[in-house]
Amino acid sequence: EAAKAVVITEDPSKPAAKKIKIRDAAENRAPTRVKVSGWIHRLRDQSKMIFITLRDGTGLLQCILTDNLTKTYDAMTLTNETSITLFGEIKPVPEGAQAPGGHELHVDYYEVIGKAPGGAEAITNIVARDADNQTKYDNRHLTLRGDIASATLKVRAAVAKAFRQSYEDLGLLEVTPPCMVQTQVEGGSTLFEFNYYGEKAYLTQSSQLYLETCLPSLGDVFCIQESFRAEKSLTRRHLSEYTHIEAELAFITFDDLLSHLEEMLCRTIDYVWNDPVTKQHIIDLNKEATNEAKRRGDPTVFEFKPPQRPFLRMSYADAIKWLNEHNILNEEGKPHAFGDDIAEAAERRMTDIINKPIFLTKFPVEIKAFYMKKDLEDPRVTESVDCLMPGVGEIVGGSMRMDDLNELLAAYQREGIAPEPYYWFTDQRKYGTTPHGGYGIGLERFLAWMCGRYTVRECSLYPRWMGRCTP
Ligand code: 4AD
Repeated sequence: EAAKAVVITEDPSKPAAKKIKIRDAAENRAPTRVKVSGWIHRLRDQSKMIFITLRDGTGLLQCILTDNLTKTYDAMTLTNETSITLFGEIKPVPEGAQAPGGHELHVDYYEVIGKAPGGAEAITNIVARDADNQTKYDNRHLTLRGDIASATLKVRAAVAKAFRQSYEDLGLLEVTPPCMVQTQVEGGSTLFEFNYYGEKAYLTQSSQLYLETCLPSLGDVFCIQESFRAEKSLTRRHLSEYTHIEAELAFITFDDLLSHLEEMLCRTIDYVWNDPVTKQHIIDLNKEATNEAKRRGDPTVFEFKPPQRPFLRMSYADAIKWLNEHNILNEEGKPHAFGDDIAEAAERRMTDIINKPIFLTKFPVEIKAFYMKKDLEDPRVTESVDCLMPGVGEIVGGSMRMDDLNELLAAYQREGIAPEPYYWFTDQRKYGTTPHGGYGIGLERFLAWMCGRYTVRECSLYPRWMGRCTP
């Protein structure tokens, strides 16, 4: 083969090529001569012509090699994931043909930068559709190159940007609380502990307590920060590290909190949905989810649509009634009773049957965190809210906070929490307390809902869960 191979050189009479990214291909059609660098996403060899679908992270571009360009040693041994720079002119595809962007690069010269293995080590063998999940996640660095993972991560970037935009619109300021802390927020059982210069410290479970301390100096605030939970169960919606979008607002009522949350979610979804490129990714991902479900024998049709306002508001007590009316049992196989923690399976079934966003409010004191404010009309329950979405269940948890110093001190005692490490949090009640509240949104859960993903693991760049901390 090598003996027959042709050697190619760049034609010096051609104009110098303009370096472009694939996203800018439409504005750089012929007669501009361009050079585009990327990875071979797909390859089709038709002996006299080679069709390359090139990927550079900004898009896909069909590229055509003809004549001598197909006869070099490199051309005869091309593989998927080889990195390459291609030179030529971008022209519309012929009538009736299809390609990304409706155009293709007619190549006049190319240089292979780095080859990728074929055969057993070829990317298509390693991250094959039917590979088991461990293999897929061991090779997350390669799975990321696929259409599904890259589309999900592009939606993720768009969603994070839209949240920031919505917070700016509503006048909340972004802060960056610490990830290394010495206090818990959501219960001791999910704390990751580590040795901090000989002192006991934890990875943060939530930035909430720190956000509360910002209110008097910065006004209403938000953060987009990692949270860590040593979850000991393997579920579709729990990670050990996740991106937590949290906000805190001062001088509000519980009703204000719910209205703000609904506004934030809907405004953010509108930004995302009104961006045509992101919208198309979401549509494609939902279609793929429907096909995947069918492969599993599940008839669910995934079709994301921006939710209708207002969201359904349902109290915990009414949810317990609803579950019993629909014969959905608790984890012990018994009818639900007031005070039960509504388990993931029951919550999911209820949300799927109701099939629209639900604000589930006023959970009993016993099943919620120590800092939550009690309902003045019914001290058995808290001014708390979970937002439930069809397909995933809870994506937001929030509440009004205890603003009375003595009540907070009593809550520490009730929960067996030593108050000393919380002195700075307690001080908020000492130096000019205010009614205030906030919430946390799990970005991966929000994405799983929007993109029809089976698990939150697919919505994280390099997901961590019990048993996996690599790559
Ligand atoms: O309901 P959670 O535990 O609430 C808090 O942490 C509050 N301190 C937030 C606040 O008021 N500032 O968590 C909030 C959200 C959940 O609704 C869920 O979306 C997500 O964080 N979440 C997880 N996401 C992935 N993996 C986990 N292990 C998660 N735990 C919570």
